[in-house]
Amino acid sequence: MTLPPSHPDTPAIVLEHVSFAFDDHVVLRDVSFSLPRGTMKILLGASGGGKSIILKLILGLLKPDGGKIFINGERIDTMPENDLMRVRADVGMLFQETALFDSLTVAENVGYRLYEETDMPLDEARRRVEEVLGFVGLEEHIDKMPSALSGGQRRRVAIGRAMAARPNLLLFDDPTVGLDPITATSISDEIVKVRDLQQVSAIVVTHQIRDAHYVATHAATRDEGRISIHAIPEHESARASFIVLHEGRIYFEGSITELLHSDDEFLKTFLFMTLPPW
Ligand SMILES: Nc1ncnc2c1ncn2[C@@H]1O[C@H](COP(=O)(O)OP(=O)(O)OP(=O)(O)O)[C@@H](O)[C@H]1O
Ligand SMILES: [Mg+2]
Repeated sequence: MTLPPSHPDTPAIVLEHVSFAFDDHVVLRDVSFSLPRGTMKILLGASGGGKSIILKLILGLLKPDGGKIFINGERIDTMPENDLMRVRADVGMLFQETALFDSLTVAENVGYRLYEETDMPLDEARRRVEEVLGFVGLEEHIDKMPSALSGGQRRRVAIGRAMAARPNLLLFDDPTVGLDPITATSISDEIVKVRDLQQVSAIVVTHQIRDAHYVATHAATRDEGRISIHAIPEHESARASFIVLHEGRIYFEGSITELLHSDDEFLKTFLFMTLPPW
């Protein structure tokens, strides 16, 4: 950890030997990984395996029992709350349970940080809110209350809220669960775009192997201002790598190709239901 936060080779996130338990229920044992800037880790594993806990540890909402956590080279697990707020301002978090503010409209939810935490002029904030709601396909719902939306729509509002302030780090907990395949793909496209065109770093927890495969095998490019998303061969996929969490440890870490072609019995069983063709 000798590189300064501004150095491009400083990883976006580092976990070093992280352990975590709720009383005598051990959730994580000696978890270590590093997320290079502008890349994405897709975190897979059984329900109850500790995936959401990892995101909450990275956000500093929980403290590890052992080990160290760094964001952009700064150690955050021992950081005072005031400094943590500064670090969190650059993180877009999508909680698994969505966590929308029920008394605020869709626009107020999505623009929350822009309105509350920046001095962005109101009309500019509104334009950004409209733009982000366009990404998630909800423009016409901008002035509704969250209670008037479906579960999948609420999730898309929460995704918009996480992206609105253009954070450099996204932590997404099951972004596409409960969405139809077309909407899920449009969310995946937005994740690919910010990763490839804005060098945003991301950890995406998912049970949707199909969507994970999509973000690992697609790339976004900009050509004379036009953005396009195209498929890349599995073996050329370099901006997304996979972690499978099992019994509190990193059971597998590697590329989509290594994951899909692994001979490991547990991985084969885990992936069996979702292997291509879908
Ligand atoms: N607040 C809490 N108090 C006690 N135990 C908890 C608490 N939150 C989570 N746990 C336990 O920690 C373990 C890991 O939970 P976590 O939410 O990280 O699982 P997950 O991998 O995200 O699962 P899922 O895929 O179902 O979302 C689970 O066994 C869960 O019961
Ligand atoms: Mg979870």
